[in-house]
Amino acid sequence: MTAPRWPLGPDATIGILGGGQLGRMLALAAARLGFKCHVFCPDSHSPAFDVVRSVTEADYLDFAALDRFAADVDVVTYEFENVPAETATFLSARKPVLPDPKVLAITQDRLTEKEFVTALGIGTATFAGVDSPEGLTAALKSVGQPAVLKTRRFGYDGKGQLMIRNGGDPIAMFHDLGGQPLILEAFVPFEREISVVAARARDGRIECFDVIENAHADHILKTSRVPAAVTPAVAAEARRIAETIAQAFEYVGVLAVEMFVVRDGASHTVLVNEIAPRVHNSGHWTIDGASVSQFEQHIRAVAGLPLGKPIRRGRVEMINLLGDEVEDAAKWLATPGAAVHLYGKTAVRPGRKMGHVTQVFPE
Ligand SMILES: Nc1ncnc2c1ncn2[C@@H]1O[C@H](COP(=O)(O)OP(=O)(O)O)[C@@H](O)[C@H]1O
Ligand SMILES: [Mg+2]
Repeated sequence: MTAPRWPLGPDATIGILGGGQLGRMLALAAARLGFKCHVFCPDSHSPAFDVVRSVTEADYLDFAALDRFAADVDVVTYEFENVPAETATFLSARKPVLPDPKVLAITQDRLTEKEFVTALGIGTATFAGVDSPEGLTAALKSVGQPAVLKTRRFGYDGKGQLMIRNGGDPIAMFHDLGGQPLILEAFVPFEREISVVAARARDGRIECFDVIENAHADHILKTSRVPAAVTPAVAAEARRIAETIAQAFEYVGVLAVEMFVVRDGASHTVLVNEIAPRVHNSGHWTIDGASVSQFEQHIRAVAGLPLGKPIRRGRVEMINLLGDEVEDAAKWLATPGAAVHLYGKTAVRPGRKMGHVTQVFPE
């Protein structure tokens, strides 16, 4: 592999694996910095295809297509974490892949992710790996109830999860989730859910955005508010956790850490729920609500540019437009101060992320 000269120059092309709205917003941020993008995605209706110089519509395991893609770009990054390991390995033999594929290997699996976090001395829900119905019986004994049973891989927006309150049939539950490797987690009686979006540059410098408070409906992110209504101690702990994880991965780019805040007598405990090795829905507010967005921070990091120091422009609220809520776009377009983002998706499905709206209020 020929290593590029850092930072990438104005004629550089950034390769993005994945063509969803995150890829689209990454490409828009890259364009603002003068870079070109090439998006690789198997789906012909990819929202990111509409805004980039080049597209490859091919399977992630189409190695001839990957070879051509690698030849056309200066650096490869991704907008979703389920890039197959073979794809990342193949590309990293040809061009720098950032963040490093070893991060994918850990975060693609909820069990290895929680083991990694725990080894850093950071708290999570009590958990146990489950490989069989008998294993589930044993895990229910050690973890207790209520508990959440999740597939180890490929879950998102609450898919592949089962709440267990009053026992139930372990054989049926194991098979309901497809008879695949699972993780059982104690249900966390959280006071609120927060996230930290952090960027780490090649030189190890880290910039965190302000702590975000998230509300979910049916396990799908509905609103993000900044700043989160947490004590300064909780905010400092949340940032410390995100920074510790970014350093431990020697991460280059933007990552998000989802966390639970749990009341603990007079104080609070912060537990990690999951890590997203990419830009994150809870960071969309940064486009309109901060001096530099999560998307631009990611592009700066993978291009070897210095990170921006994010300055928040006020109290910010981001609302996802899910499914047919996209019909509210007209109302939002007429709302003074509202910034409307539509992802260009034509097929409306319940819960599908169609766009978002950001409002910035004086503090
Ligand atoms: N152990 C848990 N205790 C309490 N709530 C949970 C737990 N695990 C998940 N949840 C709830 O379900 C949501 C989605 O779960 P998460 O593990 O983040 O999966 P996904 O990949 O679908 O985002 C969380 O944001 C939280 O609201
Ligand atoms: Mg989550």
